[in-house]
Amino acid sequence: MTETQNKDSERSALPPQAVVMQMVVGAWISQTISSVTRLDIPDLFKKHGPQTALKLIQEYGVDAKPDHLERVLRACASVGIFTEDTQGIFGPTALSDVLTSSSPVSVKKFTEVFGNSWWKVWSGLHDALRTGHAQASAQLGMDYWDYCKANPKEMEDFGEAMKSNSHNSIRGVLEYCNLSGVRKVADIGGSFGHLTIELLRKYRNLYGIVLEMPDLIPIAQRRLAGEDKDIVSRVEFVGGNMFDGVPSADVYILKHIIHDWDDTHCIRLLRNCYSAMVGDGRMICIDTVLPPMGDTGGDLAKFLDINMMVFHPGKERTRNQWEALYKAAGFKIVSITSLNDNFGTSIVEGRKV
Ligand SMILES: C[S@@+](CC[C@H](N)C(=O)[O-])C[C@H]1O[C@@H](n2cnc3c(N)ncnc32)[C@H](O)[C@@H]1O
Repeated sequence: MTETQNKDSERSALPPQAVVMQMVVGAWISQTISSVTRLDIPDLFKKHGPQTALKLIQEYGVDAKPDHLERVLRACASVGIFTEDTQGIFGPTALSDVLTSSSPVSVKKFTEVFGNSWWKVWSGLHDALRTGHAQASAQLGMDYWDYCKANPKEMEDFGEAMKSNSHNSIRGVLEYCNLSGVRKVADIGGSFGHLTIELLRKYRNLYGIVLEMPDLIPIAQRRLAGEDKDIVSRVEFVGGNMFDGVPSADVYILKHIIHDWDDTHCIRLLRNCYSAMVGDGRMICIDTVLPPMGDTGGDLAKFLDINMMVFHPGKERTRNQWEALYKAAGFKIVSITSLNDNFGTSIVEGRKV
């Protein structure tokens, strides 16, 4: 029996109050992992090998108190993030590797932002429930997109966090969306263009447009430096407001966009795509599709829905709700392909009716 199986069977033997307590204090684990990641400790272990807490501080300049840092490292080791020996030397594991900046599947920025500004917004959940209002304004002083505009570092970290969270969906789009013969794809709210760039890498005759908030464009363009010249020549970043209009294209991709908005905004955006679409075109959204009422599966998808509740006037949607949105904008859904992740991420593809 593996260690994980052991832990699973231990948990199923626990009384209900212990199971609930484990769920409730899960927030401790999340915060602790975020904190060591913000101190770059996974990167330091990867670069310099196992170390004591004291050495991390004295030799590598980690900004922490030795005793506190050691306690935090021990807590992380207890959940498998680091190794720990009898001499108080801690080291890297496969889990800490994904918290490094150099991992090809890095979730470093996601983890950092999660424990920082996002955590503040989540503290307003109870008020969101009572009032029906998203809480970014109450907790950060403005809505989240304005907060990003006012804080360029947050804007860059958010984009990097989105990229971190895109590995599976990019793989899915490359596998399931055939863009052979397509001339132009528009990635609406496409952040740094991580999805578009991979599509252009696969389809050598494809052109891509990324529509984003104007303040994000210089950051995205700077990050393009070093990318294959042929790809750079086929991608265009356009600053604008997607609710005012979208550039013309054959295929529209909206990845993790629809879930940020209420139905009125979503229908306006989908109609903008409809109007600007060349010919019959294709409307592709990548987002969660929630299971129908009565199906208690999809736990992370349902908590992602709460994330949308607390951050934006947005939500995750069931198949029926997706069909209603597409229909209201003049599209019909032709396929829903699940990417089989914990978040219920799916490719929802539609065409003009
Ligand atoms: C949840 S992120 C998704 C980013 C990217 N599509 C991905 O999945 O990695 C939403 C994106 O929408 C952009 N955005 C928000 N409001 C916008 C608007 N009115 N017009 C254009 N882009 C907008 C944000 O800057 C952000 O990059």
